[in-house]
Formats: sequence, C-alpha cells, structure tokens
Amino acid sequence: MQMMDSTFDIAATAAALGTAACRLDIDAVAECDSTNTRLLERAQAGAPSGTVLVADKQTAGRGRRGRQWVSAPGDSLTFSLLWRFPPASPAPAALSLAVGLALARGLEALDVREVGLKWPNDLLLRGRKLAGVLVELQAGEVRSAVIGIGLNLRLPADLPPEVAAAALGQALPLGPQAPSRETVLAALLAALVTTLDEYADGGFAALREAWLARHAWQGLPVRISGGEVAEGRCLGVDEDGALLLASATGPRRILAGDVSLRPAEPGDGAS
Ligand code: BTN
Repeated sequence: MQMMDSTFDIAATAAALGTAACRLDIDAVAECDSTNTRLLERAQAGAPSGTVLVADKQTAGRGRRGRQWVSAPGDSLTFSLLWRFPPASPAPAALSLAVGLALARGLEALDVREVGLKWPNDLLLRGRKLAGVLVELQAGEVRSAVIGIGLNLRLPADLPPEVAAAALGQALPLGPQAPSRETVLAALLAALVTTLDEYADGGFAALREAWLARHAWQGLPVRISGGEVAEGRCLGVDEDGALLLASATGPRRILAGDVSLRPAEPGDGAS
C-alpha cells in the first residue's frame, strides 16, 4: 500500500529555527501509530540526539499513565524529540518538568500569554489543558529520552464548544493571523534545545524558579490521585521536581500522581 507523504513543510521549520536547526534532524510522516513508539524504535537502532518525528495523524497516540492520546489531524501538533544527555548530566527524574517549561517558553516567544504549568508537565491555558508531554527513556539508556508532545492548535470546528472544551481542553488563541504549524514547531524546538541544555548543565534546580513563575496552581487546594493519594495546599516544587503539599497531617512531598483542583475547605494546610 502506498503511504501518503506528510503535508508538513520541514524546510520551513528548519528556516524558522535558525541556529538551533543544526542540532536537529526533522522527519515528518503522514501517519503512524505513535511518534513516541516510532522514535523509541529509531533510538534503539542508534538514531542521533536531536532526531525529531512529527506526524500529521497518530492512530494509537499514547498519553501518560497508559492512557490514550487522541488528537484531531490538522488541529493539533504531535511530535517527538530524541535527546541524548552527556554522561555526567543529572538523572532524568525531573526532565518532564523541564520540558513543560520549555514549551511554555516556546509559546511565549510566539506571544501566547497566560500559559500556565500544571505538575508534572501539562500546559494549561486559562485553566484548561493545552498540551501534554510523555517522556520515555530508551531501554537500557537512562540518559536517552524520547520526549513526546501533543499540542492543540485549534479545536475541531464541528464540535459544540462545550463538548470541545470538556473533551479536548484548550487550543492556542492565535486568531486569523495564526502562525503556521511549522512556525509553532520551530518555536517549541528552539526552546527545547535551550532548556534541555540548561537542564543538562544545572539539573532542575537551575530551572525551578522559571517553572514556579509559571505554576498555575501555586497556593491552591489540590487532590493527588493515580499514584500517591493526598490532599492539601499546593506549595510548588522542590529542586528534584517533586510536588510539595501542605496537608492536614503536615508537609508532603509527592513523586507521582495526577493533580486536580478541589474546593478549599476550612483547615486546608496552614500557611
Ligand atoms: C499526556 O498528557 O497524557 C501526554 C500526551 C502526550 C501525547 C504525545 S503526541 C506525540 C507523542 N506520541 C505519542 O504517542 N504521545 C506523545
């Protein structure tokens, strides 16, 4: 069966990337099961750091914690980046937070304001999900990561707004003068290259202040589920990327789980 070519313009992305282009090798496909799955395969076969795979459509997109990731072709940007860190660089425990920060910086460079970060690595816009990140390590290689990103560019026109909002979250507020997918991808990749270099040099400690400045739920009452189970007031993150909670039983340090907002109750963690 003849495979269609991707409609993605790689040359335009490379041109918009400027000097960061020499750190990246971008490939685009019309369709694949999951760009993360395909790039993990290429990583295992020896693909170099900076390999990028972007797909117009994924048939089996994967999200965090074994969930599916469904995205509308043309209305979303779905891509993965293979990054190999130097041997002495910090462990990748907080890498996904660094990636969330990079995406926020990339969108800010396109003048998208009000992007917030939700631990560990969702991007929110006006309280709703704009993008998700799935970081997976290459088998047997703790310093080679495949970083998968799904970003809503716009909500499909045929969905009632309330359904779209509930199902898909938020889309970029770019209006008629919206930059192309290629321009958005270039901005995100350029910010990723810079931020991943900072992470390699200084670990998450070097990025923590910048992450906290964009933290959407700082000081708010939250519930943790999925991994650990806890409730409390969100105090931010520590230098290892753990979420810090003030709970009724004292301070808690959360390493894994999903965070959701909950109504404030009397006695929520003291200040
Ligand atoms: C999440 O929020 O659960 C993470 C979603 C990550 C989705 C992206 S889309 C590109 C890459 N390929 C995948 O199969 N998943 C990631």
